[in-house]
Amino acid sequence: MLPDFRLEAYFSRWEFAAKYHLTASDAQTMSLRELLSLADADGLARWDELQLGYTQTYGLPELRSAIASTYANAAAEDVLCFAGASEAIYLAMRTLLGPGDHAVVLTPNYQSAETTPLSVCPVTGVALRPEEDWALDLAAVRAALRPATRVVSVNFPNNPTGTVPDPATWRQLAELCDERGIYLFSDEVYRGLELPPLVPLPQAADLSPTALSLNVMSKAYGLPGLRIGWIVCRDRALLRRLERAKHYTSICNAGPSEVLALIALRAGQRILDRNRQIVAANLPLFDAFFARYSDLFDWQPPCGGCVAFPRYLGTDGVEAMCAELVEQAGVLLLPASIFASALTATPADRFRVGVGRRDPAEALACWAHWLDQRRLSRPFP
Ligand SMILES: Cc1ncc(COP(=O)(O)O)c(C=O)c1O
Repeated sequence: MLPDFRLEAYFSRWEFAAKYHLTASDAQTMSLRELLSLADADGLARWDELQLGYTQTYGLPELRSAIASTYANAAAEDVLCFAGASEAIYLAMRTLLGPGDHAVVLTPNYQSAETTPLSVCPVTGVALRPEEDWALDLAAVRAALRPATRVVSVNFPNNPTGTVPDPATWRQLAELCDERGIYLFSDEVYRGLELPPLVPLPQAADLSPTALSLNVMSKAYGLPGLRIGWIVCRDRALLRRLERAKHYTSICNAGPSEVLALIALRAGQRILDRNRQIVAANLPLFDAFFARYSDLFDWQPPCGGCVAFPRYLGTDGVEAMCAELVEQAGVLLLPASIFASALTATPADRFRVGVGRRDPAEALACWAHWLDQRRLSRPFP
C-alpha cells in the first residue's frame, strides 16, 4: 500500500480554493489559442485533422522525434511517453526494482520519488546539505550504495530547494552509477528555467547509456494540463519493459495532448525564453518582500527551476504560519511537513514558494498585509 501523497492531498484541499497559489511548481501556463498561435503549418494541420482513436503506447512518432531532438545523444526510439511525469516515476520504480533490490534517493524530494521505491524494497535517503546551499554530497551517495543497489534517484533542479549541483559533481555521479551498474534515474522536469549565467546541466541520458532522464511538459514549459511526460533512455530493452508496464496504466497518451505537445516542443525555445523572463521579472519582487521581513525569513532564490525553500524564523512555527495564512488571507504555501521524509531528517522550519507564475505582486502584498496585521495583534517572533 502506498501512503497518502501529502502534497497532492494538501492541494486537493487548497489548490483551487485558495485565492493566491504562491507555491505553484509550474511555470505560467497559456491558453490553447496562445499555444496554437505558435504552431507551424504541419502542427496546425495535425490539430485540425486529428482523429480521436487510440494512439501508440510509445507516443506519437513525430513527438518522440521532437523530444529526442532536445537531447544530444538520443534517437526517437530512445523515447517513451507517459501521462505526465508521475506515471513515469511510478512505473519506472516498479519496473526497475524488485523486493531483493535497494535504492538510494535524495531528500528532500517530490514524495513519490521516495514512497514508490519504498513500496518495493529497502531505500536509503541521502540528504542534500542545507548548510551548504543544499549541496549534493557525493561521498554520502557512495557510502549509501550496497551490492543490491539498482537505482539512484535524483531531481535537479530540485523540488523543493531549487538547488543544482556543479557540473563536475553531476558527471561524477553519472560515472559512479555506470561503474557500479546502477540505473541513474534523473528527474529533470525543471530543466530549462535556469537563469544566466547558470546553464542547464547535461541530461543524464546523454551522459550514460543506461541512465533514465525524466521530463515533462508540465513544469519548465508550463503545460501540465497536457499530461505529457517522457523517459529518455538508450537502454531500449529497459524502455520496452517500461512500455509493457504502461499497458497496465494509461496504455497510450491522449491524442490531442500529443499534437499540442508536438506544437509546443517545436516552439520550445520561445516558450522557455518566455518562462525564464517571467521568473527573472518575479525574483526582484520576492527579494524585496523577504528583505522587508528579514527578521521573519531567511530567503535564498532558486538556483534553477521555479521553486524555493526559504526558512521561517517566527516562533509560532512554519506550520502555523502557512495554515493561518491560507485560511485567513487565501495565500497558499507548502509547509515543511509536506516534504518530511521517512528516510532522513528534513528541516522543519522551511516552506515552498513558487516563482514561476506571472504577477505575484498582489499575492505578496496580501501576505505582507497579513503579516503586518498579525504583528500588531500578537508581536512575533
Ligand atoms: C520533481 C517533480 N517530478 C515530477 C512531478 C510530477 O509531474 P506531473 O504533474 O507532470 O506528473 C512533479 C510535480 O510537481 C515534480 O515536482
